[in-house]
Amino acid sequence: MLCLKVASDPAWVEEARRDLDAILVDHAHCEMKAASNALSLATRPSNEFALVRALTDLAREELDHFQRVIDFLERRGLRLGTPPVDAYASDLRRAVSALPHDAKISSLVDRLLVAALIEARSCERFKLLLPLLEAQEDGELFVFYKELFVAEARHYQVLVDLAISATGGDAPAVHARLELVAEREAAIVRALAAGDARGSIHG
Ligand SMILES: [Fe+2]
Ligand SMILES: [Fe+2]
Repeated sequence: MLCLKVASDPAWVEEARRDLDAILVDHAHCEMKAASNALSLATRPSNEFALVRALTDLAREELDHFQRVIDFLERRGLRLGTPPVDAYASDLRRAVSALPHDAKISSLVDRLLVAALIEARSCERFKLLLPLLEAQEDGELFVFYKELFVAEARHYQVLVDLAISATGGDAPAVHARLELVAEREAAIVRALAAGDARGSIHG
């Protein structure tokens, strides 16, 4: 799906079925991190205003997602708490920073591609939640995650397109790099699936 090289372990869906509240709390944190990451990336290309606008638009949309997940948490009597350490995202950033140097690929491009992979994986996981929510007859959550599944797929594409424009239009170089990032992401997802299951979007 999208650029993903490995499908999620079915055990993730079982964990989500067992503790959907934990998934919702973690999801709220993920949306907040997506918003703040997009804003922090927006400060990087200070003279590329199209890129700055696209990233601030993205941040605004992620903040809207965050607020809407918060509404679900409040209705269900859940607490947001402090953000947990996101092993998936930090392992992915570390793996990508260790990739071979490529003169066409700046650190901004790598960060855009890491964000794109995170969007792709979120999109896949939201899709996996849909049959579960349908079976539980949770109409509001079903409609919400269906919308987010579409939105995160679009964000994936926006971030890949921004990475291409950040190289001055070198699509082959970005797609070659995306392959490497996706390989690292698949290895991390396999390793996390082999560890202790925990209720998180990317765990
Ligand atoms: Fe989002
Ligand atoms: Fe997103």
